[in-house]
Amino acid sequence: MILETSNITKHFGGLKAVSGVNLKIAPGAIHSIIGPNGAGKTTLFNLITGAIPPAAGHVVFDGNDVTGWSPERLAKVGLARTFQRTSIFKNLSVVENVALAIRSREGVSRSIWQSTASEQAIVSEAMDVLGKVGLRGRDKDKAGALAHGYQRALDIAIGLALKPKLILMDEPLAGMSRGDRETIAALITELRASLGVTIVVVEHDVAMVMRLSDRITVMQHGEVIADAPPAEIRDNEAVRKAYLHGSFAA
Ligand SMILES: Nc1ncnc2c1ncn2[C@@H]1O[C@H](COP(=O)(O)OP(=O)(O)OP(=O)(O)O)[C@@H](O)[C@H]1O
Ligand SMILES: [Mg+2]
Repeated sequence: MILETSNITKHFGGLKAVSGVNLKIAPGAIHSIIGPNGAGKTTLFNLITGAIPPAAGHVVFDGNDVTGWSPERLAKVGLARTFQRTSIFKNLSVVENVALAIRSREGVSRSIWQSTASEQAIVSEAMDVLGKVGLRGRDKDKAGALAHGYQRALDIAIGLALKPKLILMDEPLAGMSRGDRETIAALITELRASLGVTIVVVEHDVAMVMRLSDRITVMQHGEVIADAPPAEIRDNEAVRKAYLHGSFAA
């Protein structure tokens, strides 16, 4: 397993946001985490990526116990994330957003002391990353001027700029048109194939999740209620009940 949580737990007052979750992610997988609103999916991501400390339990990534590590330290060993709400700098250009992530990976800040050669290398690498997400031709545009679907692609580019072994994506398809969702889903599949990166996705578009994933974990009320390949999840009675109103069988 490239990522494993054991008994990971976080309560907010009396609310069990994440309760005793054991998650196993196989290397090279596209593994989705689904569940109704408030199930604890984002909190689980926050616990894995060091955004909040767990009350109990452990996170093991790539052979190391990384429980309580900061997001920066985790990024250095190859664990990156994208956010449910975009983390781009809207006033900066598209390429500059990616260059910032590369500089943070390299631990350099942009200053007058930075050599032109290394700055050119960073921009050239940023352009390569933009090429992977289909944004090469938009490099000079202001990030905030991009359509929503392209902003999510830029989010993914920023995550990829950290050269992760595993990337966690929180609702990469949220708020998108049908066509944009198809584009981003294809991009996710393509990234796994071309970079071999392990991808963990939180997503509400269950039909897309079924097509995209090797394995699916279903959460409800802070707990895992199912963990299986898509075909088994589709037939799981507890999962159907959790999605009372969903057109889940589709
Ligand atoms: N910082 C916080 N303080 C208090 N309660 C919180 C906090 N963060 C999350 N919660 C609560 O914990 C529960 C799980 O929230 P979380 O955001 O993890 O759910 P989610 O599965 O990501 O939901 P969604 O699908 O709507 O994004 C919710 O009831 C939420 O209100
Ligand atoms: Mg969430």
